[in-house]
Amino acid sequence: MAITPIWPAASAVDSETGALTFHGRTAESLLDEFGSPLYLIDTDEVRDRARHFVKAAADAFHTSTTHVSFAGKAFLSKEIVRIVTEAGMLVDTCSMGEMRIALAAGAPGRRLVLHGNNKTDEEIALAIEEGFAKIVVDSPDEPARIAAIAEKLGKRAKVMLRVTAGIHAGGHEYISTAHEDQKFGVPLLPTGADAGVLGVLDTLAAEPDAATPAATNARLVERGDHPQSASRTAPASGSGEGAGPRAGFVSGSGEGAGPRAGFVSGSGEGAGPRAESVSGSGEGAGARGARELQYDVKYPYDLSHEQVSETDKALAEAMSTVADGPALAVLKDILRHQDTLELVGIHSHIGSNIHDADAFIQAAKRMMLLRKTFYATDAYTLPEVDLGGGYSVAYTDGEDSMDVRRELTRLAEAVTGINRALGMPAPAISFEPGRWIVAPAGVTLYRVGTIKPVHLSDAKDKAGEPITERVYVSVDGGMSDNIRPALYGADYTARLANRRGSDETMLVRVVGMHCESGDIVVHEVRLPADLKRGDILAVPVTGAYGRTMASNYNQALIPAVVGVSESGAHVMLRRQTIDDLLSLDVSE
Ligand SMILES: Cc1ncc(COP(=O)(O)O)c(C=O)c1O
Repeated sequence: MAITPIWPAASAVDSETGALTFHGRTAESLLDEFGSPLYLIDTDEVRDRARHFVKAAADAFHTSTTHVSFAGKAFLSKEIVRIVTEAGMLVDTCSMGEMRIALAAGAPGRRLVLHGNNKTDEEIALAIEEGFAKIVVDSPDEPARIAAIAEKLGKRAKVMLRVTAGIHAGGHEYISTAHEDQKFGVPLLPTGADAGVLGVLDTLAAEPDAATPAATNARLVERGDHPQSASRTAPASGSGEGAGPRAGFVSGSGEGAGPRAGFVSGSGEGAGPRAESVSGSGEGAGARGARELQYDVKYPYDLSHEQVSETDKALAEAMSTVADGPALAVLKDILRHQDTLELVGIHSHIGSNIHDADAFIQAAKRMMLLRKTFYATDAYTLPEVDLGGGYSVAYTDGEDSMDVRRELTRLAEAVTGINRALGMPAPAISFEPGRWIVAPAGVTLYRVGTIKPVHLSDAKDKAGEPITERVYVSVDGGMSDNIRPALYGADYTARLANRRGSDETMLVRVVGMHCESGDIVVHEVRLPADLKRGDILAVPVTGAYGRTMASNYNQALIPAVVGVSESGAHVMLRRQTIDDLLSLDVSE
């Protein structure tokens, strides 16, 4: 008998005994063989999910190149690296340990990515030596550091810039990563800038033809800059549009040729084809007063100020604001190091456990505006835009899991639309799912220990109904093997796994064995009223951020990870032993 969709597809309940099975193996036999507690990972399910994501991305963005990297922080072992790379994925790493595991699995450097807000020189050097597909720059000082290391090694590093697009998404503050007040990335907008200028992206999404070709081909140049000195091309961009070296505003007619208008929002004055274009608003004029918009190509018509639409003006204002932002400054800095750094793109990760494409669409539009602005300032067409991870899974019955095929299709439509409106060629699009690939493939098995009813005078259950008793069921693991409930208040469920149990149920809180009252495994679940010491509980959807966030709190031994598949069960990561703990303690 199949269970509910939150359980791995190959798990079932034996109709005679009520025992839970995984690819035909009972939970009890797995605990007997491999010990308790135990992480199970259905490797067939990981493979299927990895393939599904790669194909969904390729199908959704069928006119672009797509890359999908598995975020190794979700769960990493050599076998997982092999499974996901065979499914066509790259692997994201963000520490020496993750890099070394991925390399030990045989993944070539060109299939690996290095992230991190505080990378060591050794990590950067290893990534460069191994030819990583991208090193994701996370702060303004990093390009110079990476460039110096690359120079010493006599190599060129591929880098991408992580940008905080100002989108707040994800279930919990600690897993929401693109808002202002956090440690990752470089902001898109200058401090204190009015994000309202980005509203033009919604206009463009609704009316892709609202901007004129003049606006979509505009160059933003600093006054006094020689235009040619700003003109560069991304080597990998292959696209004619925007890629032609110096195809821009100098085309055939000397500096400032062609229509050259100041169509910045609100500035009535300055009309006429050759009007100076500067920020219409008085504020910020110091920086922006020196910038002007010029057109990229010669038009078959003279564009007068009256023909420039309100949307064009709003777009110019948005580009001008983005051009003042920290992200664009870092992109320019990377270009200054182009002997040692190859700028491959920009990156945004907005959070985790996000249910639909809406927030991704907002972030993607902002990233495309940055790409457009960088093209306008530096004639550089960024080849790749990485939209990060964060695709949700259901942890409990009734919760939503992201339908990636449907949502990536929505995202692709939005990305195509905005690039069309901006007059930009399609970039390669990348994704970094972690949780979505492995969480639903994992189940943790525990043995039940103490069962303690606690009488309550003023308490309510999840549904808000008054309760007078909660039964605390302690298991032989807890926050040391799954910190997520304690860290984020994450919700899980559980079921009795070794037998059917009584029809009568009781309201239970499953707790761990650690010295913290927040050591909760499942906040609330109804379990058979005849639950007893020695029974086995199974907690589904624990394949991500369980083992990788495990600790030795209270000197607990980190459980083994056993892979189950059609071909049987095998240890992927062995259980820690007391000798492992003692071997770290080198004092006499
Ligand atoms: C940069 C980056 N990419 C991808 C991920 C993976 O997120 P998820 O496992 O929610 O898909 C994370 C998670 O923290 C991340 O920080």
